[in-house]
Amino acid sequence: MTHVALVGCGHIAAAHLEAWKKTAHGQVAVLFDVSRELAEKRQKEFGVARIASSLDEAIKTADVIDVCTPPHTHADIARQVLRAGKHLLIEKPVVTSAADWESVRAVAGAATIGVVHNLKFTHAVQQAKEWVDDGRIGDVLRINRLFLTSPESDRMLVGDKHWSHKLPGGRWFETLPHELYITHMFAGPLPVASVTALHTKGAVPGAPADEVCIVLAGDRCISTVHYSASSKENRRSIEIFGTEGKIEIDVLSDTATLASAKDSRVRRAVGVKNVETGQRLLQAIPDRAEYLLRRAQKETPHATLIRAFDDHLAGKGPSPTPLDEVDYVIKNCDVIGRKIDAAVGRA
Ligand SMILES: NC(=O)c1ccc[n+]([C@@H]2O[C@H](COP(=O)([O-])OP(=O)(O)OC[C@H]3O[C@@H](n4cnc5c(N)ncnc54)[C@H](O)[C@@H]3O)[C@@H](O)[C@H]2O)c1
Repeated sequence: MTHVALVGCGHIAAAHLEAWKKTAHGQVAVLFDVSRELAEKRQKEFGVARIASSLDEAIKTADVIDVCTPPHTHADIARQVLRAGKHLLIEKPVVTSAADWESVRAVAGAATIGVVHNLKFTHAVQQAKEWVDDGRIGDVLRINRLFLTSPESDRMLVGDKHWSHKLPGGRWFETLPHELYITHMFAGPLPVASVTALHTKGAVPGAPADEVCIVLAGDRCISTVHYSASSKENRRSIEIFGTEGKIEIDVLSDTATLASAKDSRVRRAVGVKNVETGQRLLQAIPDRAEYLLRRAQKETPHATLIRAFDDHLAGKGPSPTPLDEVDYVIKNCDVIGRKIDAAVGRA
């Protein structure tokens, strides 16, 4: 049995506690939070045996430390965990600067580091990966990520107190790892080509740059990330265009659809978008059935990732988040976060 200490009992901790219950070897044995009240709440909900009274005590009593605290606390906690020779599972963003990442890696020794890059394990992204690997859209040419979020309902943007506001680039830094590892997953480590950021009249404290467009470009593939916090809409989508077709992912409903738009008279007469709507409807029925089955089995992306991490620790499979992927994400978050701040004159 692998003893797990979960540190940070806020919003995302519930997904981790649920996920550890579905692993073959891991059991959350101890909780720690700077707020004892929050730790007690999670203890009652998930029946965890103990609450530690310090981080040090939590680390001593476990083999794996699962860190769910805000990003600005991660580097200190991670170093302490790794210096004690314990394995580390940590929420993204792992750290808030490339220098902190170097110092974390320097003390890792033989300990394993896993990062919660959970979007990789959604039903839709896994489906898209299968289609790309099977050659269904040919070679990947474009990946376009759209993230429109309403400042009235985005829990991190409401008000002026959320910890994400102080990150490099503000709230975007909190989600940026997802955008970068998805690009890495489908197109490899594309370098940053440009970052355009505007401070418009819609800007809010958490997103001083409320309109952002990031371009990543390699030899053949270009990837864009569009953030907006001045829209009243909530849209989260990923489009992957290949030489033979395209995949559209609606992240909020966890749906992926495959389409191809080779020119033909029929397509021109009916309209490419109308043909695609038909294709989408045909794919929707089996897709929703599979999605609902996963939901019923509580097979969340966190559960898939944490089970893979637990198996990896037991020597039964690869890491769900290889370090080259983590390294790419952290280094480019560092570059992009600072470029966003510089573009809007934020120190
Ligand atoms: N992978 C995902 O989909 C996903 C989703 C949400 C959040 N996150 C990430 O999870 C992390 C936590 O986010 P959240 O929304 O749960 O935050 P939160 O503010 O809801 O919870 C953070 C908890 O950590 C505690 N805490 C703060 N500093 C601490 C310290 N030094 N030691 C111990 N406890 C401490 C707080 O009291 C709080 O209970 C962040 O890195 C965030 O980016 C990931």
